[in-house]
Parts: sequence; structure tokens; C-alpha cells
Amino acid sequence: MSVNTAKNRLDYQPPAYVISQVELEFELLPSKTRVLAVSQLRRAEAGATSLWLDGQELQLISLTVNGKDWTTYEQRPDGILLRDLPEQFELCIRTEINPAANTALEGLYLSNGAYCTQCEAEGFRRITFYPDRPDVMAVFTTHIIADANLPFLLSNGNLIARHQLADGRVRVSWHDPFPKPCYLFALVAGDFDELTGSYITKSGRNVALKFYVDKGQQQQAQFALESLQRAMKFDEDVYGLEYDLDIYMVVAVDFFNMGAMENKGLNVFNSKFVLADAQTATDTDYFNIESIIAHEYFHNWTGNRVTCRDWFQLSLKEGLTVFRDQQFSAAMGSATLCRIDAIKTIRTAQFAEDAGPMAHPIRPDVVEEMNNFYTVTVYDKGAEVIRMQHTLLGAAGFRCGMDLYFQRHDGQAVTCDDFVQAMQDANQTDLSAFKRWYSQSGTPELSAILENTATGVRLTLRQQTAPTKDQADKHPLLLPLRYELHDGKGQIQSGLLQFASAEQSFEFTDLQLPVIPVLLADFSAPVKFSYAWQTDELLYLSQHAQDGVARWDAMQQLWSDLVRRSVRDGQLAAIPSGLLDVLGQLIRSPLTDLAFSAELLTLPGFDTLAEQYEQIPVEMILDALESYQQQLATLFNADWLDLYQRLAPAPYRYSEEQTGLRALRNTALRYLLRVTETPDSLWQQQYTGSDNMTDKLAVLQALVRAAHPQAQQMLQQFYLQYGHNVQLFDKHSALLASLGTPQVFALLDQAEQLAQFDWKNPNRVRALYAVFGQQNPAMFHQADGAGYQRLASVIGKADVINPQLASRLVTPLLSFKRFAPARAALMQQALSQLQQQGLSPDLTEKLNKALH
Ligand code: ARG
Ligand code: ZN
Repeated sequence: MSVNTAKNRLDYQPPAYVISQVELEFELLPSKTRVLAVSQLRRAEAGATSLWLDGQELQLISLTVNGKDWTTYEQRPDGILLRDLPEQFELCIRTEINPAANTALEGLYLSNGAYCTQCEAEGFRRITFYPDRPDVMAVFTTHIIADANLPFLLSNGNLIARHQLADGRVRVSWHDPFPKPCYLFALVAGDFDELTGSYITKSGRNVALKFYVDKGQQQQAQFALESLQRAMKFDEDVYGLEYDLDIYMVVAVDFFNMGAMENKGLNVFNSKFVLADAQTATDTDYFNIESIIAHEYFHNWTGNRVTCRDWFQLSLKEGLTVFRDQQFSAAMGSATLCRIDAIKTIRTAQFAEDAGPMAHPIRPDVVEEMNNFYTVTVYDKGAEVIRMQHTLLGAAGFRCGMDLYFQRHDGQAVTCDDFVQAMQDANQTDLSAFKRWYSQSGTPELSAILENTATGVRLTLRQQTAPTKDQADKHPLLLPLRYELHDGKGQIQSGLLQFASAEQSFEFTDLQLPVIPVLLADFSAPVKFSYAWQTDELLYLSQHAQDGVARWDAMQQLWSDLVRRSVRDGQLAAIPSGLLDVLGQLIRSPLTDLAFSAELLTLPGFDTLAEQYEQIPVEMILDALESYQQQLATLFNADWLDLYQRLAPAPYRYSEEQTGLRALRNTALRYLLRVTETPDSLWQQQYTGSDNMTDKLAVLQALVRAAHPQAQQMLQQFYLQYGHNVQLFDKHSALLASLGTPQVFALLDQAEQLAQFDWKNPNRVRALYAVFGQQNPAMFHQADGAGYQRLASVIGKADVINPQLASRLVTPLLSFKRFAPARAALMQQALSQLQQQGLSPDLTEKLNKALH
């Protein structure tokens, strides 16, 4: 498709007609589902007589207006334009759809014998003709008619009726009293196990909580259920927000394009973010489940009760809801660890997106395919932009802003401007300078200089944002900077600076150089920061910064300085003895927070390091990382072993304390497996003796990363033992795809042939190829281009089946301009070849941006 379908944010027009109520009736059949939609419409724009209804891959059966067949309409491939409409009318449309053939997993589709829907962003138009835009909010009533072999027939809101029909089928009816846009509509029909719980809200209402999972997996939903209860409590405690229906349902499905979806009262989840027990899920899985369950729950207010006016405003709900789920995770466990996680995401994926052809502000201005804008920029940088407002206004001020936001906008579809306006008005402050964060793409680069003055020290800050693909001109942004100034003898001045111009100086009294600065404590702004620290200054900060994130950051900086010097000199820079002392000390006596110790003992990843180079020196970064890890393994061999043995595991429980212990012990294991003296019995014992998947998988990961001679054989054994479970099958695929040796190509071929593999299932494909493209730099970037060819051919294959999946897989190829010419040419060639094939609008948008 070469038509340019770009839409612009500033072209927004309110709807010509609004809908007060819609009544849907589904007669479910795998390839011939009948949908009847009866809507009550009313003119909203003076003089309007025509109305656009979106519709895709629908078979229109009949259309009436106020009970009369309507013939004044124009049908196009993407919808119908109704003409000569009265001021108020009932619109009745019958369509037929084919859920069995729906491999795009948008609209209504079948997943392992169960029907389910995904309507965000624009999937409802694959169900019926409708104004598929978030600012049209209606009260939905849904009737589902199906065979008795589908015992659970679910939709949004409250169950109002259930009848047995004369022909043996069942008809159930649901009513959702809250007006909503159609992207929040959901329908699920299938045979499940049901796990039930309840929650009593702060005003005493009893809410039924129901989880629907595949047969036999009921107990595996227990942790998700408890997570939901914790999230409900958190939203009441921190934001005063209570749940509003009598029932909250979560359905877990294996075929799903993303993590989960916040449909009103009926969340649909990728099953890997619901199901967990010690034998199948890792500590990381537990963490993700808790945070995603909370994320979707928090959407009930930030997204559903107050929704987006148009899709350019996506960050209104996503940035805010990610921020809220991060707050929740921080409250459930270690705030520092959560923050480190979020920072890694920004520094790798988000900075890379800003530097590549898909660069866009958190509130994009131009969109072709909306599904392409569910990005790390809109979500994660969007959350950072909310966090900065929280930092600037303080927790209490932020809460006042949230209260006012709900007071003003409950039941409305609004914009990012409305959000900031509420924050501003509630705090009687002016955030107009700050608002540029919503419209400017790119990563600001911040630098600092310190000098002595007569009365103290002067800190001069500079900021600059390089042009991005989408936007040439950049302006300074308002950066909230949490600083600590250390005199090195125990005196610290700390506080918050607001830096809003290209260059500005700040004076501090009662201080003389030398001063060691921390300027981005808690990563208070999503920027790149450079300062000419000396090695011993960073070592000092790694021990004495007040902020945990700053201590970790100092260690990261030490390593990235070393790698940078190695790359510059073409020879490995020696690890300073001071750094070895700090590491040795940490290994011998870790901090009480064991998980934090593990982070301090872990080198930055390839992607974090890569982001600092305009042209990424792949082999040099990889070689340096490899050598440094090898050195730490050898030098501290005895200490690692000692540490490993001291950290004796207890019977598995998912808790902060145990998670920390496992993280540190498995860090030790990773180093131990890099030296040949380590007896095989050590890891074999952990593999066979441990009572949980976290520790088993850690063994395999360590073997794979160390390219251990037994890695492949152990993967095979793992597959034979656990491959029948789809979550574990995916873990096997992911391990295999991250093997950093050329055998990986043959292994990928074999993996595609396994019975459990299915090109139609995004989880299966991503476990192999999102991992290969994004977590196997050595083989993906193999010098002959075999990695690029492989990914491109997979994308071509996937695009025909599922455009959203294909479009997500292409990310690592898009940034070819970041590599040396020979490599860039190979990447570009892989993309151009892909372009020969007729591609989905999703891929077309990305390839056009990348190649032109
Ligand atoms: N709103 C969902 C969430 O973040 C995600 C929907 C993603 N939709 C898409 N087309 N990619 O919770
Ligand atoms: Zn979300």
C-alpha cells in the first residue's frame, strides 16, 4: 500500500454525531460470526448530515436508519459514509466477520478455541461499522449467543441476563453503565478454569474478582489475584481512587499481540503475565505480573474513566499509568531497583528510538499506523515526563493535581494539555516552559562545569538536543535536577535545581573545590549527562552518594569510561586498582540489599554502552565487555565461590529478600562459569537440586552467556523436560536465540521445526526473534550480515500473518545509520529486500522513514 494515510494531530475535528447508547448482539461461529449493532445517535455539529463509520474486513448485511433501509451511503474499503441523516436516529447495522481467519489478532479472533477481542487502538472497526475514535463515548449493552460448549460468555460491565435458547444455545447479556469509547469494548467466550476472589473497597462495596485461565491452571493465577488486590488497595491509599463496578475480570490468552489490555471490567492478558508458580515462573516473571496487573487496573481511572480525545494523546493514559505502576512496584519492593530497571529501558531502547528514524515526541504530531506508536517513547519517556511533574510539584502537589484532573474530566475524553492544566491550576504554578517535553522529540545532552568563586563554587550547566529525524529545530527543556555536591570529607549539599535555558550558572556558598557532583540523582530527568569525573571521584560516589541510583550510576560510568578508552586506543584499558578494591570488598561483604549488590557487580549491557557512540563499534564493545567479565571472574574466583556458597537458598517464595539472594547468588554463578576450574557439579547441583525456575534458568543463562561447552546439551535437556509447557517452551527459545556463537543459526532453524512452534502465535515468534534481534548483538550483527538476513526474512513471513508482530520485530534493523558503512549497508540491504514484498501499512511506515 503506497497511499500516504498520515494523520496530523492539529487536524482534530470533534465528531459530527455522538452516540449515547449501543446495543451489540453477537452470534458466535468460528468463521461466520453475526454482529448486530444498534446505536442511538444525535447530531453534535450544527448542520452536519453525514457521518463516517470506520469498518475493515466486514461483510455488510444490512443497514437501517430509524427502522428504514438506508441507501444514501457510500462504501469504501475502510468504512462507509452515511448521508442525509436526521438530527437524531437509531442506526442498525448487521455484519458478518470471520474470527477463525483473523491472524492479525485485532478485533474478534480465536485463541486456542476461545473467542477474544483486542480493540485498542483501532480494532473495533473489524467488528462492526462504527465511529472508531476514542472521543465517541457510549453506554454499551452486549448480548452473546453461543453454543453450550462455550460455558463462559463475558463482556464489559455487569451480567444482567442468561437464557437458554430453544435451539440449545445460550444467550447472555452484559451492561456497562460507564460510557466508554469502543476501544475499551471486550468480548470473551470459551471454556476456562475460574479463580475467584474479592475485594472490599474503602467505602465498603464488595467487588468480585475473577480470573479465567486455561483448564488446569487455576492455581497459577493466585499470585496475579493477590497482585490485583494489592493494586486496588494502593490506588485507594495513594490516590483515593476506588473501583467502580461490582465485578473485575481478567482473562489469560496465549495468542496476544502485547502484554495486556485494560478493557472496562474485563481485562485481557497475555497469559505469560498472569500465570505463575515456582516451577514455571522466575522472579522477573513475578515482578512483571504484579506490575502489569497493576498497570491495567490503574487504567480504570487513568484511561477509562478519563480517556484520550484522540490517539495522538496516547501518553495521557500510558505515560501516566506507567508512572503509577512504577510507583506501585517501588512501594511493593525496592524503589532503587525499580528505578534502575526503568533507567535501563530509557537508556537503551528509548534513547535508541530518539536517535533513529522513528523518533517522535511523547505526543506525536504525525501518525500513519497507530499501532506503531505504542512505543517506549510514548510509554516510558511519557512516564518520565509525568515523574518530572511529580518531582517539580512534590507528592502532595501532584496529588492535588490528580484530584483536580478527575474532578474536571471524569467521564470525558481529553488531551495532554488538559492534564498539565490541572496540575498547574491545582498548584497555582506555571508549567508552560515544562510543556515542551510533550512536543519535542530527542534526547537532551546535559554537561556541567564546576569552578571556584570568591564565596563558594559555581556550577555551569549546558544542555543541547541534537536534531532528530522528525524535527530539526530543538529548544532547551526544563530539567529538574536532583543534585548532591560532595566535598569528599563527608559534607554534602543537596537539593533540586530547575534548569531551563541553554546555559545557566548556579552558585553555592560554603563550598570549595574539589567538589564531587551528582547531578541526576534518581535519574531526575531523562537525559544524557556528561561530566569529567576522575576515576577516584566516581569510586567515591559509588560508596558515598546518598542516592542509591547515583551509586549504581557511578559504577556504570566507571565501566563505560573504561570501554570508551579501550575503543579509542584499540587496546583494553586496565581496570583501575581502586575499582578492583571496591568490587572485591562488595563480593566479600555485600550490602544488606543483596539485589542492589548484584546490580553494582554487573557491568552495563551492550545496548547501554552502544548508546554512547554515534557510530557503534560492535566488536570492540563486545570484546571489551567479554574481557572485563573474564578478568573479574578470574581475579575473584575464590571470592565468588565463597559468596556463592554463603548464600544458601531457602524453599522458594517470591519475596524481596529471597529475590535479592537469588540475584546475587546467580551473579556469582555467572562469573564462576567463566573459569574452567569451576567444577561442573556446582551448576549441575543447582540445576537439578533447586526447587524453582529462577535458579534453574539462571544456570542455563550462565552457561549460554559463558558459551560453555555444555550449554547446548543442557538446552536440549531442558526442552525435553519442560517444553510441553508453553511458557517454558518460550524460555527455551529465548535462551537458544541468545547463544552468541554461529551455531545459533542452525539452532533457530531447528526451533522453528519443533511441534510447539507456531508462526501464528506472537509469543512463540518473539521468544525466538525479538530475542535474537535485541539480545544477541554478537550474532545479530555478525559481520557477513547473516543475522540481518535472517531477521528480515522472518519479518517478511510474519507480516503476512500479523502486521503488528512484524512491525515490532523490525526495530533493530531500523537504526542502520548508527553503524560503520559496511555493516550499515548490509542492514539497509536487508530492509530494501523486505520492501520488495508488498508490506502492511505498519511496516511500510517504518521502512519509508528508515530508508528515505
Ligand atoms: N493499552 C494497553 C496497555 O498498555 C496496550 C494496548 C496496545 N495496543 C496496541 N495496538 N499495541 O495496557
Ligand atoms: Zn497501558
